[in-house]
Amino acid sequence: MTNPFVQFQADVEAVTERCARGEISEAERDAAVRQMKLVDPQWGDTWMLSPKGQWFRQATGSKQWMPDYPLDLVDAASLPPVPQMDLPQISLAVHHCTRCPLHSGRTRAVPGEGNPRTDMMFIGEGPGFHEDRQARPFVGASGKFLEQLLTDIGYRRQEVFIANVVKCRPPNNRDPQPEELDACRDYLERQIELIDPKVIVTLGRFSMARYFPGASISKIHGQPKREGNRLIVPMFHPAAALRNPAWRTAIIDDFSKLPALVAEAAAFRAEKDEPGAPAADQLNLF
Ligand code: URA
Ligand code: SF4
Repeated sequence: MTNPFVQFQADVEAVTERCARGEISEAERDAAVRQMKLVDPQWGDTWMLSPKGQWFRQATGSKQWMPDYPLDLVDAASLPPVPQMDLPQISLAVHHCTRCPLHSGRTRAVPGEGNPRTDMMFIGEGPGFHEDRQARPFVGASGKFLEQLLTDIGYRRQEVFIANVVKCRPPNNRDPQPEELDACRDYLERQIELIDPKVIVTLGRFSMARYFPGASISKIHGQPKREGNRLIVPMFHPAAALRNPAWRTAIIDDFSKLPALVAEAAAFRAEKDEPGAPAADQLNLF
């Protein structure tokens, strides 16, 4: 039996080829491709493929279309070690992962989602009830708040990448345990390496602890730290900020600094890559 995702991909390609041959206009191609949908029989998610080859998923129970990777297109038999995986392979590996006890309680794992070429990556704690159903991060009340915070600074959710320190829901939303954080760590590490965001925002204690061990969020929130060629900015967790008016004000204020921090990181990256800028030891030659 033909894999429905492979068939769907071929159908979309046929339309884009008709456009390439001049038989239909780009507008007609886009309209035709936008009509084409594939419903995944296992979960009921709806999938689309853009003419540029980017897959989008609309999870059951959600109205949003998010960039994602159909597992059915990844070759499960030949997955490399995590440090060599690409994003679709990480997605597959996470969905099949049994490294820690959290796998036994999950409905669906939540690898993370968003634009793989983003400037900004947000790292939360772990999936909750709704995230576990939809296989998407931050879709409950804290997700709505996060989207509002992004809108306020001129970003759409689809433009950033959102992930968590553990990819499977802890029972009753309890804290992730050290062994679970350790077991899950390299997936997130590889995601960060591949996406290479200019700014990482940590949301809550567990993602903050990766970069600021022992720190207190009330003291350091909103203060960026440079790590290599990016900035790490600790912030309150949106769920906590929703419950505490002072923290809510703080997170709104901290978010307002993000565009400037992205620009700052872009500037120091550009400086480092500047071909005309002689290194210090070269200067010594003259
Ligand atoms: N809280 C988190 O930390 N992550 C989610 O994905 C949802 C809620
Ligand atoms: Fe694997 Fe992470 Fe899920 Fe544990 S939480 S089972 S390490 S994906």
